[in-house]
Parts: sequence; structure tokens; C-alpha cells
Amino acid sequence: MVIDTPPRLCVFDAYGTLFDVAAAARRAAAEPGRAALAERWPQLAEAWRLKQLQYTWLRAITGAHADFWTVTENGLDWALEATGLDGDAELRTRLLALYRELDAYPEVPAVLDALRAGGRRTAILSNGSPEMLAAAVGSAGLGDRLDAVLSVEEVGVFKPARAVYDLVGARFGTPPDGVLFVSANGWDAAAATGHGFRTAWVNRAADPVDRLPWRPAHVVGDLADIPRLAGL
Ligand code: LAC
Repeated sequence: MVIDTPPRLCVFDAYGTLFDVAAAARRAAAEPGRAALAERWPQLAEAWRLKQLQYTWLRAITGAHADFWTVTENGLDWALEATGLDGDAELRTRLLALYRELDAYPEVPAVLDALRAGGRRTAILSNGSPEMLAAAVGSAGLGDRLDAVLSVEEVGVFKPARAVYDLVGARFGTPPDGVLFVSANGWDAAAATGHGFRTAWVNRAADPVDRLPWRPAHVVGDLADIPRLAGL
């Protein structure tokens, strides 16, 4: 596919898109003495992520904002109880520590380097708090590969509130159709289409598309196709 006027700015969601949110539970499960977690880590990781996201939406709808770290802790506590792992305080501490330094997906550094070598600017737009994002970006070695790391904390409401997507234009002065927005969260890519961004949904699990008023413009299996969608 060829885009006539290529986007000059590529904006990435963070958790689930650049950073593998299952990595904390997977890594902890591989550590010695974690037999119970080793049996149940996929269920824990799935419940943790689902509750974390549900709490962002519920807090946005009710106007009861708390930062993403709080919501991440709350989601973990629900998931630990649901999987019968809530008696282990050390495990909770360890999972939260690992969440602060999640693995980036393997293709991320090369994709960001290719975009910048091609003259595209790169940014994160995330629910994450600035502290969480700084820790994850730093531990993954992405700091020098990004022009900006934008957090919803600037507006005090979570995605997909419109005020969040407005942060991109406010920072870069770029019209929405000059932005390629990339997210592995289908609802996030859909809402970004509604905002007027060009969009790519990274659908690693081959999930069905979300039934929302908007659709992602492009669907890709991983991030390797993003430079091409940016006209490179
Ligand atoms: C984020 C969430 C959606 O990084 O994962 O914004």
C-alpha cells in the first residue's frame, strides 16, 4: 500500500504495543520457588490486564481518575485473588517491580530507528503515568529513539477520551491526518480513527475487530510493517 502524503509523525500506544504486558507474570513464573504461579501465570496475566483496562474505563466514565500505577495495582490485586495467588505478598511486590521494566517486543528498537532514519518523528501516547513510562522506556533502551513520551496524566482522564488524543496535536502542532497512530489495543486504534488519525492496529493474536463506530485503517501482525505504512 502506498500513502500519497506520508505521515510525518508516528505515535505509539505503550502497554501491549511497545511493551509486552504478559512479560511480568511470565518472567516471575520462571523464577525458582514459584510453582503455583508457573501453573497459572497465563490466567493471572490475562485477568490482570483485563481488570486494569476495565478500571481505566470505569474511572474515566465516573470521573474518578487515579493514575495508571494505582489502576495497575488494583487490577493485580483482583487477578491474584481470582487465581488463588493472593496470599503471597512477596510475589505481588515482585510482579509490580517487573511491570516497571517490561520487555519491549523484539522488533521495537529497529522499527523506531527506521522511522527516525526516514525523517519521521516518533512518540508514545499512553495511559501510563510519567514515572512508569520513564522506567519502561529507560529499561528498554528506547529513550533516544522517541521525540516525546505523552501521558494521560496531562489531562487526568484515560483513553479513549478525546482529550487524550488531542495531546498529540497540542505537542506537535500536527493535523490529525499527518499522524500514524499505532496500537495493539483494538479499541484504542478505533477511537484514534474517530479522532482523525491514520491508524494501524497491531493484532498479534488474530483477534476479531472491535465492533465500535470506527475501524482501524490498517491491521498488521506486528510492528515490522509500520515503516512501510509511514511511507518508507
Ligand atoms: C496504554 C494502554 C492502553 O499504554 O495500554 O495507553
